[in-house]
Amino acid sequence: MEKTEQKKYHIITYGCQMNLHESEKMAGILSRKGYVATDDKTQADIILFNTCCIRENAENHAFGNIGELKKLKKDKPSLLIAVGGCMTQETGKAQIIRQKFPFVDIIFGNLNLEELGELIDKKSAQKKKIVALREREGEVIEYDPPLRNSYPNAWVNIMYGCNNFCSYCIVPYVRGRERSRKPEHILAECEQLVKEGYREITLLGQNVNSYGSDGSTDMPFYELLEKVAQIEGDFRVRFMTSHPKDFTEELVKVIKNNRKICHLIHLPVQSGNDRVLKEMNRRYTAGEYLNKVKMLRSYLPDAEITSDLIVGFPGETDEEFEDTLTLAKEVNFASAFTFVYSKRTGTKAAQMPNQIPEEVQKQRIMRLVELINALTREKSAKYVGKEVEILCEDYDEKKNVYFGRDEYGRMGYFTAEQNCIGKFVTLKIDRANGVSLYGEAVSMR
Ligand code: SAH
Ligand code: SF4
Ligand code: F3S
Repeated sequence: MEKTEQKKYHIITYGCQMNLHESEKMAGILSRKGYVATDDKTQADIILFNTCCIRENAENHAFGNIGELKKLKKDKPSLLIAVGGCMTQETGKAQIIRQKFPFVDIIFGNLNLEELGELIDKKSAQKKKIVALREREGEVIEYDPPLRNSYPNAWVNIMYGCNNFCSYCIVPYVRGRERSRKPEHILAECEQLVKEGYREITLLGQNVNSYGSDGSTDMPFYELLEKVAQIEGDFRVRFMTSHPKDFTEELVKVIKNNRKICHLIHLPVQSGNDRVLKEMNRRYTAGEYLNKVKMLRSYLPDAEITSDLIVGFPGETDEEFEDTLTLAKEVNFASAFTFVYSKRTGTKAAQMPNQIPEEVQKQRIMRLVELINALTREKSAKYVGKEVEILCEDYDEKKNVYFGRDEYGRMGYFTAEQNCIGKFVTLKIDRANGVSLYGEAVSMR
């Protein structure tokens, strides 16, 4: 009997780890419908865009890539094109996508991701385009297993949405209010992952320290984290993101007492100036942030801190920007994501006077990037001659090197004869280059 050709899917993801993980959930849904993945768009029966709208360039990027499919769709009318994620959740965006790209078949959002399978069936049975969006968040959904693409790392959602309404940020508008998964579901998922051989688990939420604040559980985040770290097995645990206002001593004690939890904390500060922080609605001052850093380092002297920083927030003066540089130096960030403020329609900051000219924003971001790179390089240099344990994540065929990160997030490269992916490898570092370390594998497990 002739084997029927399997249908293929191709997913393009923009944005954060949350979105990357949601693409794995979509892949799970598609694989249960009999689809297999392809890297080649021209071979795909369905192409799915999982979009992001955090900054204007994320949107433009997706728009450009969707536009490029016009010809492919014309040559292959049976191709299904679906656009989901965060951008479609923005007020009025679905309409714009329909007008700009009439060849898109399905528009859905992150709030009804679980409907993807049904939407595909529905579209296959009708000619009419589908726009299926949910305006408000529903109940927390326990998905069937995602098709993970990230071995030996596994991402696990602990909560969805955000209640913080930082004045520049669109996330609360496109992801709805905070809601948490039940601890028993999270722990069962983590146990299963460890059994399957995953060696790093990253707990995901926009603000993990307010886990359970919707009343869905009495278990505070630090207790959940401890329970995950106490699962039997040889693996490490990370979590992100911590909002500084909710970063507590209890949490730091749990990290100290459970060595599986990495000593790298992503603690986005956004700005080093109190007036700007207030306008951003971050609900802490630079001084309070520095005190949290001090508290963290008093328990964990080796802890590294990474951050997110925004330059050019409306009204930010040169002096206020300097405060961000000063704070970055004082904390001595291991690294940081640096962003130029992007005006997001519907947010409070979009209404603020004194939006900063592009030229000024550019100069500020260049200075900030330079500083962060210098801090990172300085730390890398200190690794030379030392031993570092990394978790080998992948292999670069072109360069013939394996690579992975140490617990502090630093990338190490090495060569080996055998497949090392998923192994904890101890490297003796002989060279450092910016954020990258190079060394020889001296042992692995
Ligand atoms: N929940 C996380 C961050 C999610 S968004 C937290 O609060 O830390 C990731 C980062 O994007 C933010 O930390 C912020 O630095 C940046 N960001 C969000 N909105 C932005 C905007 N309008 N312009 C520029 N950067 C933005
Ligand atoms: Fe956005 Fe602030 Fe929520 Fe983070 S905490 S997602 S920056 S509103
Ligand atoms: Fe993430 Fe972008 Fe949405 S950063 S939460 S995918 S807007």
